[in-house]
Amino acid sequence: MKTVSQRTVGGPDVLRTVETEMPQPAAGEVLVRVVATSINAADWKLRSGVVDRLGPPPFTLGLDVSGVVAEVGPEVSEFRPHDAVFGMVFGANAEYVVAPVTALAPKSPGLDHTNAAALPTAALTAWQALTDVRPGDRVLVHAAAGGVGHLAVQLAKARGAYVIGTARTINHEHLRRLGSDEVIDYTTTDFTTAVAPVDIVLDLVGGEYGARSLRVLKPDGRLIDAQGNNAADDPRYRRHYVRPSGADLREIATMVTAGRLSVDIDRVMSLADIAEAHRLSESGRVRGKIVLTAWNTPT
Ligand SMILES: NC(=O)c1ccc[n+]([C@@H]2O[C@H](COP(=O)([O-])OP(=O)(O)OC[C@H]3O[C@@H](n4cnc5c(N)ncnc54)[C@H](OP(=O)(O)O)[C@@H]3O)[C@@H](O)[C@H]2O)c1
Repeated sequence: MKTVSQRTVGGPDVLRTVETEMPQPAAGEVLVRVVATSINAADWKLRSGVVDRLGPPPFTLGLDVSGVVAEVGPEVSEFRPHDAVFGMVFGANAEYVVAPVTALAPKSPGLDHTNAAALPTAALTAWQALTDVRPGDRVLVHAAAGGVGHLAVQLAKARGAYVIGTARTINHEHLRRLGSDEVIDYTTTDFTTAVAPVDIVLDLVGGEYGARSLRVLKPDGRLIDAQGNNAADDPRYRRHYVRPSGADLREIATMVTAGRLSVDIDRVMSLADIAEAHRLSESGRVRGKIVLTAWNTPT
């Protein structure tokens, strides 16, 4: 099967399409034929070595899959061959990927493969970060126009929050349509002087945004850091890591098919163009998600 692999860390051109053995699902796993995957910031960080969690290459990146079950391993009763599924699964930049059934959810016909591939990592990150948002909470989302941020805006709004997002002006109208009550252009306005105290900050930018965010956080508020910022010593600080969850994805899919949550697709490309997709993601200017269809696979 075709797989995107890399022999060294480095720029987007280290990504190569190679032939590898078809993986076999073990107990509790299924083999999924990948129809589409999507890019997350983690992809270019791991590819380049900015984040070093995988050890030395070779490795295959890709966290999101939407596809069709090709084979089931032992002790699997949840899914059968030909079922359409989606989920957060490592190594999805390939023709096939093995996934634990607990990471997958059924893909209903009301959710196409493009949208399903765009959702898992970004939507789970936002969903799991914002579980304790209460009606009336004031929630500040940094990088509100990005893959995680635009879903966080909608989920916080759906839970009854007053939502403030940081983004460039070009994205403001769109973010208001998604439910932002206030939008701040971080390139022209210092959010620490423009925002009244908030209950929750979701920091998707990191670095010095940590300490600055504390300045607008209520004494009993929470700073949820998904990126790594400089506020870890504060008692209101929480480090956030996404985890795969088919159960959470079922709830997310229900919201999407009911029209209560939508995922922005910046563009759809092919896995053959993955180096260019990494370049775009690394630019930090993608609005929503880049989806990659598997080589010549119709979605
Ligand atoms: N810890 C976890 O479990 C976890 C999970 C997922 C993601 N993350 C991390 O969360 C971060 C966001 O992920 P993502 O997938 O949403 O990234 P992304 O889609 O690449 O984010 C792109 C967006 O960032 C915005 N942006 C760039 N610089 C900004 C700034 N200084 N202030 C406000 N907005 C800014 C841009 O909007 P404008 O064009 O409007 O500037 C753009 O739309 C990444 O660092 C990622 O690694 C962590």
